[in-house]
Amino acid sequence: MLEVKQLNVSYGHVKAIHDVSFHVKNGEIFSLIGANGAGKSTLLLAISGVLSPQGGEILYNNHPVQEKNVRYMVNQGVTLVPEGRQIFYDMKVKENLMLGAYRHKKKINILEELEKVYELFPVLKTMESRIAGTLSGGEQQMVAIGRGLMSNPTLLLLDEPSLGLAPLVIKEIFLQLEKLRKTGVTIILVEQNAKAALKISDRAAVLVRGKIEKIDLAENLFQNQNLHEMYVGTAVNK
Ligand SMILES: Nc1ncnc2c1ncn2[C@@H]1O[C@H](COP(=O)(O)OP(=O)(O)O)[C@@H](O)[C@H]1O
Ligand SMILES: [Mg+2]
Repeated sequence: MLEVKQLNVSYGHVKAIHDVSFHVKNGEIFSLIGANGAGKSTLLLAISGVLSPQGGEILYNNHPVQEKNVRYMVNQGVTLVPEGRQIFYDMKVKENLMLGAYRHKKKINILEELEKVYELFPVLKTMESRIAGTLSGGEQQMVAIGRGLMSNPTLLLLDEPSLGLAPLVIKEIFLQLEKLRKTGVTIILVEQNAKAALKISDRAAVLVRGKIEKIDLAENLFQNQNLHEMYVGTAVNK
């Protein structure tokens, strides 16, 4: 479904991604794990059309998309839920969710999409008129994911959804991601919280200073304690 080939992404003279290659299969949960500054967000920004790479290719369903913008990618079914949620804290939950549908050029049935989001996160339905800023961190993350889902994506890119959340809340959100995958949505999950991410992933890549250090089945990486200590270190919740 997605193939990234020899990708290079820079911020001015700072090279953030060096010759990164990997592929993601239809229907899988693929995790990108790595320490702060490894280049995880940059990679998602390039795939979602926010940043243009300086070299390499991104193939989505066999078509090169590395020169495309966010609107194009959303219309192709690729949606990013950015780091730090970036929801509108002074707007209502439902208004935030509705914003997720607006980029989509096809006339998707917005109310149908909203019902799907409420099915996945029932708590949001009970809070649809609440101001988003008054919600807990976990609920705000559900709003951010829900807003991404409103564009009816086939590939969802999630940038550190567990950041700042309590372990129990992370568990609950990740459980919903597994449910989401069962409905046919492919997921790329970016996490510093390697343990939680690997538990629900099929495969994963470890990113170290802008390069892929290892790609393997998630269960193999999960059991590789050396890898945890060397590259993910303190980010692993014991
Ligand atoms: N807007 C930016 N301008 C310059 N350098 C940046 C910018 N964003 C990220 N970087 C640098 O790119 C590298 C990768 O950052 P990032 O993709 O945010 O890593 P991660 O998401 O894994 O924490 C880091 O060295 C970071 O300092
Ligand atoms: Mg990041």
